[in-house]
Order: sequence, then structure tokens, then C-alpha cells
Amino acid sequence: MKGVILAGGLGKRLYPLTKITNKHLLPIYDKPMIFYPLQTLINAGINDILIVTGGNHAGDFLRLLGNGREFGLKHLNYTYQEGEGGIADALALAEHFSDYEKIVVILGDNVIGGNIVQAVKDFRKQKEGAKILLKEVPDPERFGVPEIVDDKIIRIEEKPKIPKSKYAVIGIYMYDGKVFDIIRTLKPSQRGELEISDVSNTYIREGKMTHDILEGWWSDAGTFESLLRTNNLVAQGGANKKNL
Ligand code: DAU
Repeated sequence: MKGVILAGGLGKRLYPLTKITNKHLLPIYDKPMIFYPLQTLINAGINDILIVTGGNHAGDFLRLLGNGREFGLKHLNYTYQEGEGGIADALALAEHFSDYEKIVVILGDNVIGGNIVQAVKDFRKQKEGAKILLKEVPDPERFGVPEIVDDKIIRIEEKPKIPKSKYAVIGIYMYDGKVFDIIRTLKPSQRGELEISDVSNTYIREGKMTHDILEGWWSDAGTFESLLRTNNLVAQGGANKKNL
């Protein structure tokens, strides 16, 4: 299975830190942020990886990561997102790379304390459709939130004012090759973006979505509070450290 890291967008919520660099190159404790999602994919046995980036500092990813030799990779793929049309807009750029095989997508600002080995194994066996991972959080209204009935997700709401569960949909998504057809049907949301939650909702409507609860901690790092929190979690020694 191939992997895609979405590291585009302009990181406006972290301005002025992101005035002179890309959000995903900011430090999380002793490493640049992008190292963590990259290592998460590699730990799950995924070695064919595309990084989608954007903005004014895209060249710095190449200088930092090259072909991923430090991570034991032979090659890394890169592509460039113009503007910040949303997570699904960034994912659309992976169509050519994917060869319409199943893919694991990870947001470049998502860091986990454990691993996704079992979920990826299970998705390899899943005939078709998609798989997402959930984590209980104190502030679900910041995220995509699943409504769950009889252990089945019936809908995901993006940043709901009144969340229908205490779970966040974390930024690790597994999709089959149909995902690109689905993205082509999307309309921009109120915030003007193609939403990844709308992609997942299509799979849910078709009855082709499975989910797991992630073990270990999870944090995004797109706001000052969550960036600090992630730094502290990693500093306390909890990250998926293998090779890092
Ligand atoms: O972290 C998990 C959450 O991520 C999910 O629960 C939400 O459903 C999902 O929409 C997303 O929410 P955010 O509002 O936190 O996403 P954000 O705009 O911060 O983007 C997260 C990453 O996605 C970012 O670090 C890079 C990538 N991205 C984002 C945009 C808007 C792109 O590559 N291109 C983009 O245009």
C-alpha cells in the first residue's frame, strides 16, 4: 500500500511562525513536525510515500528529507498544491501516484504516541471502501466528529457546535482507489475548502466505512495550544520513536 502525507496549506493559525517557514517544518521537541507522520507510515510498513506540500517554502522539504535515506527509504515523491483548497483538494494531487491502489493518508500535523500497524493490516484485508481512526478527546468541536449508532458511524460532522460524540476523527485515513472519483464530486464547504469529512461521508453513505479507536495518544499541531501540547507529549518520551 502507498502512503500520502498532506503538508500543504498556509498554516495561518500559526502566523507569524509560518511567515518564514512551512508549518510542517516547525519543531516538535527535537525534530521537524513532518518527521513524525513520515515515521508513522514507515512503522506501518509503508515505504512508497508522496508528500504534498505548498506555499513559499516547499523547496525546504527537499533539502530536509531528500529521498528519505535517513528513514531507510530509497525514494520519496513530492508534489505541490497551489493555494489551500482543503485537505481533499490536496489529496486529489495524489491520483497519478496512487495507481488507484489503496492508500493511507496522514495529515502532516498529526502525531501519535503508538502506531497504526494493526489498522493498516486490517485495511489491506478489507475488500473495498475506507477506514478511519477515532480518538476520544475533551474538545471534539475542533475536529471532524462521528455520530455513532450501534457501533457504526452514520455521519461525520466537521467542527460541529454541538458534537454528537466525544470522538475526533483523527487525521489518518485509508481509502480505496475510488477516492479520486469521490473528490471530483465535492463542492467547497462554507470555509471554502474541499473537506475530507465529505469524502468519508460518501463512503459511510455507501456502507463501505470501517473504523477503529486509536490506542495511545494523538495530537494535531495546527494551533499554538496543540503545538505546545504535542511538543510536551513528545518531550515526555511518548512518541513513536523507532528511528526518530
Ligand atoms: O487533525 C484532524 C482534523 O484535521 C480532522 O478531525 C478534521 O476532520 C479535518 O478537517 C482536519 O481539521 P483541521 O481544520 O485541523 O485541518 P487543517 O486545516 O489544520 O489541515 C490539517 C493538515 O492538512 C495540514 O497540516 C496540512 C493539510 N492540508 C490542509 C489544507 C487546508 C493541506 O495539505 N492542504 C490544505 O489546503
